[in-house]
Amino acid sequence: MKKQVGIEALAIAVPRRYVDIEDLARARGVEPAKYTAGLGAKEMAVADPGEDSVALAASAASRLIQRHGVDPSRVGMLVVGTETGVDHSKAVSSHVQGLLKLPRTMRTFDAQHACYGGTAGLMAATEWIASGAGAGRSAIVVCSDIARYGLNTAGEPTQGGGAVALLVSEQPDLLALDIGLNGVSSMDVYDFWRPLGRREAVVDGHYSINCYLDALSGAYRGWRERALAHEVVRWGETLPGEQLARILYHVPFCKMARKAHTQLRLCDLEDAPGRESTPAAREEAAKSPASYEAQVASSLGLNARIGNVYTASLYLALAGLLQGEGAELAGKRIGLLSYGSGCCAEFYSGVVGEGAARRMAQTDVEAVLAKRERVSVEEYERIMKLPSDAPEPLTPAPGEFRLTEIREHRRLYAGG
Ligand code: HMG
Repeated sequence: MKKQVGIEALAIAVPRRYVDIEDLARARGVEPAKYTAGLGAKEMAVADPGEDSVALAASAASRLIQRHGVDPSRVGMLVVGTETGVDHSKAVSSHVQGLLKLPRTMRTFDAQHACYGGTAGLMAATEWIASGAGAGRSAIVVCSDIARYGLNTAGEPTQGGGAVALLVSEQPDLLALDIGLNGVSSMDVYDFWRPLGRREAVVDGHYSINCYLDALSGAYRGWRERALAHEVVRWGETLPGEQLARILYHVPFCKMARKAHTQLRLCDLEDAPGRESTPAAREEAAKSPASYEAQVASSLGLNARIGNVYTASLYLALAGLLQGEGAELAGKRIGLLSYGSGCCAEFYSGVVGEGAARRMAQTDVEAVLAKRERVSVEEYERIMKLPSDAPEPLTPAPGEFRLTEIREHRRLYAGG
């Protein structure tokens, strides 16, 4: 498996409306600093029933194809990573294929494992291409989700929604993956789940944070062992984690990335050979604000403005990072940590491509966000209470899709 394979381009789609997180805090009688500083949020996407995971996935995939001149006949696989699908059987990927009139020759399927589903899809696509089974064709992997905990819940300020579509190929202009280095940690836990028939997730919030951090440690140590063996990183004056130019984390809320980074540093500080230090000193060093600012903070801009997008959150961080720093990071290695409750975590790495800045300019993520409308908390609450099978009769923006009706259990969409 010596081929260069990875992410060639990406595109995003977001709901047309958002609520300011300080407005939400005031409406809930909460000190706004708890949501802004305590969770790291600024704004939260508000999806109405017309903007379901199919509509968002189709909008992102359509933008990817249009903006990057993708030839659909060269795409052999279409995967949708989602945990908020719309049917127990029919795949979101089939809807997307139909709405975009994609060729029948492609393999289509959904990948579900909470927020990890998108990464599962990305790895399936990458390994399919790298093995040669794809015979030179590309894959599209779409991560699409709507995060809902419900009104007046602890999880409420960590909701959101949207989609990120990734083009995976042998021309990784954005990120060439280090195939074979990935580290994984999985376990059977009830930290966050959504029983059949429920729109809102059930979550054991603080426990879920511990599960995430525990799984991160295992996944990162697995990656580090292989990366050391391949001399991609080494124990030296700097720690292995410090040798990555940036590290992206799954971002259910931005403060989680800070906690995750502290945990990753703690793994290195605990395991470093020949370092004499107390647990207290290690804890202190792990929290280094300078390390967080240098390696993590710059990736969180989009996450802070959109909220949790489950499967897509890590890839929003990638988009945020590369739109700001694509040029300066070209040729540099970054690390990525995917986490899905339940749970499965995977740490992997890749090298930013020379074409990253150009591809991100083509994608124009800012233009997508600029079209959004800020709504009041009253309007957000009205939208949240709309039944999922009764979409408002709104016209989709050019190039986007909306659910218009459910007739005899069949979902009908407009747009494109
Ligand atoms: P909570 O219990 O209401 O909040 O809910 P808290 O009391 O823990 O406070 C949050 C932070 O704000 C704390 O900071 C406070 O100190 C701080 P920390 O100690 O953690 O660093 N704070 C303030 N800061 C400044 N000024 C103030 C102030 N007051 C408090 N005045 C919780 C928080 C995250 C638990 C909740 O929002 C929740 O349940 N969210 C959903 C679950 C979640 O996001 N879990 C993350 C890990 S699991 C995961 O990532 C998977 C997931 O994406 C799903 C999937 O895989 O599909 C969720």
